[in-house]
Amino acid sequence: MRWPAGVDGLCFGGDYNPEQWSPEVWREDVALMRQAGVNLVTVGVFSWSSLEPEPGRYEFGWLDEVLDLLHDNGIKVNLATPTASPPPWFSLAHPEALPVSSDGVRLTHGSRDTYCVCAPAYRKAAAGIATVLADRYAGHPALAMWHVHNEYGSYCYCDLAASAFRRWLQERYGELERLNAAWTTAFWSQGYSAWEQIQPPRKTQYLANPTHALDYRRFLSDELLAAYCEQRDILNERTPFVPVTTNFVFAPWAPVDHARWAEEVDLVALDHYPETADIGAEEQTAFCADLARGWAGGGPWLLMEQASSVLNEGGRMHTKEPGRMARLSLSHIARGSRGAMFFQWRASRGGSEMYHAAMVPHAGPDSRIFREVAELGALLPAIAEIDEGRPDADVAILWDAESWWALQAPILPSPRLDYLAAVRAMHRQFWRAGVGVDFVAPGTDLSRYRLVVVPSLYLTSDASADSLGEYVESGGHALVTYFSGIVDENVQVRLGGYPGAFTSLLGLRVDEFYPLADGEAVGLTGGGEGTIWSESVHLAGAEAITTYAEGPLAGMPAITRHPYGNGQAWYASTQLTDDAFAPLIAQALHEAGQPLPNHPAGVELIRRTSDTTQWLIAINHTNHPADLPANGLDLLTGKPIHTTLTLTPGTTAIIRTPHP
Ligand code: GLA
Repeated sequence: MRWPAGVDGLCFGGDYNPEQWSPEVWREDVALMRQAGVNLVTVGVFSWSSLEPEPGRYEFGWLDEVLDLLHDNGIKVNLATPTASPPPWFSLAHPEALPVSSDGVRLTHGSRDTYCVCAPAYRKAAAGIATVLADRYAGHPALAMWHVHNEYGSYCYCDLAASAFRRWLQERYGELERLNAAWTTAFWSQGYSAWEQIQPPRKTQYLANPTHALDYRRFLSDELLAAYCEQRDILNERTPFVPVTTNFVFAPWAPVDHARWAEEVDLVALDHYPETADIGAEEQTAFCADLARGWAGGGPWLLMEQASSVLNEGGRMHTKEPGRMARLSLSHIARGSRGAMFFQWRASRGGSEMYHAAMVPHAGPDSRIFREVAELGALLPAIAEIDEGRPDADVAILWDAESWWALQAPILPSPRLDYLAAVRAMHRQFWRAGVGVDFVAPGTDLSRYRLVVVPSLYLTSDASADSLGEYVESGGHALVTYFSGIVDENVQVRLGGYPGAFTSLLGLRVDEFYPLADGEAVGLTGGGEGTIWSESVHLAGAEAITTYAEGPLAGMPAITRHPYGNGQAWYASTQLTDDAFAPLIAQALHEAGQPLPNHPAGVELIRRTSDTTQWLIAINHTNHPADLPANGLDLLTGKPIHTTLTLTPGTTAIIRTPHP
């Protein structure tokens, strides 16, 4: 990780779009930024047409003035390359660089992200503007970090993309026969006899080939990454001491393989906008923050964008309740973000996102939102020290973008199979229990964890299955859930009984699936229900902990446990409801030697530990006071805590204690 140069402590600020405002407003902006404690702003993300209004004619005067003004006021700049939104002149000059949708429609300019990353003209222009910016601002004292592009993830299915895809496939498979075998093209007469016959997975008559579709997503992730790396290398060459990153987008949609991308950025940066207004927003925040930390290899990362005052629930904007913006920001920081940044600084007067939340809303600084922003900015310096400790996590959840993509194929035994929902449901159990978890990629060394959880990991390579097996064999505990280990990297079923990659580890064999209907639930002995999925589990060494209590599988195992080497492996063959999940998690943790913490319901707990110090971060999401055992100093109030911390509703405490 490389940190923005000259930014002390935690980052606080947001996307700053001065090109939308007059110089008088800029002066008010910097005064307000100082008032709010802003120390870093992202400038220029969508400035291409303001910087280069005509090909080769640059207007840098306004940006020079803005950067000078920021520097004079002690605010550092995360300078963006504006390549997510090429200007209209570019699209008119290079119509072949406009993207084509999977059903063959060439998109028109008028929004943003209207480019095909495979178009040579686009790549050349993107590298060009990055070079010009780097040459001009390399020595500017405000420059602290480069922000390449914005939320890489635009897909295209044009002929240029087709050519690049074929090159990628040739690299991956070498021989066409290998591709034909991997893609199972013998099915439906899809055998290819020349590379030129292969197209992107455009709209077709009926079901598409799932391996073809998955390879296209792998290819686009790689191609977008290559485009990022081209700009990064240009910037590195000119400013070797300035870190370079790009902001990852994570929604119910992961356009690129972030774990792989994380290897190429100096600092993992995440944009996060929860999609619900209820407590799910807090759960999603914890989930995404833990994911970002996972991509950062367990180290620090940066929340690059969030909304100050609203949660967007299916298009309806829900106003965040007083204090909620701070709580969500602190949850991110507690889970490893080195700061809290927003989209955007000042709410736009017009344009497509004119109603998007901002640090300075349309009402101006005399507003609850700005006051809360300034309060948050004021408290961050007092808590920056928690960065010395790493968030505790004895549990790992395996996370894999490829497996997710594979599970989005339209050919599955149930449309209700949903990887993101399954992983979130699992993470929620630990979030509620106050147990820290790390997300790790399959194949990672797991030896530091007491329990490794594998929710619905549909696509599993031999290597990752072996790694999990070795971990359990040498004493680890694993909990695998339904529809894991079903297919290999080529989306081909592992034969001989499901879940093929894990049958010996789990000590069982499944011969038939019994997917459940919408709204259907099946009762389990011992309480709770299964939803979404069920299957006929035949024991082969494992013991049944819970069985199906009704329906066609009545009496057959639903949850199992299998001693394996020095460890043991649990299996849940259905999507457990919370009242079945919670006791299973408690038991699995207990047997792994990690009993559940003493934890009041509705209080989010994160512990961070350094060699000398421990910090307990507790966030009360309920509307009643909560007591929990604690000793030390509350960094937020400056008050000592003896034996019991009483958290009033909606408040957060960060307690520093010497590490025993
Ligand atoms: C993303 C983008 C921003 C803006 C916000 C709106 O994070 O990076 O430009 O569109 O979404 O939520």
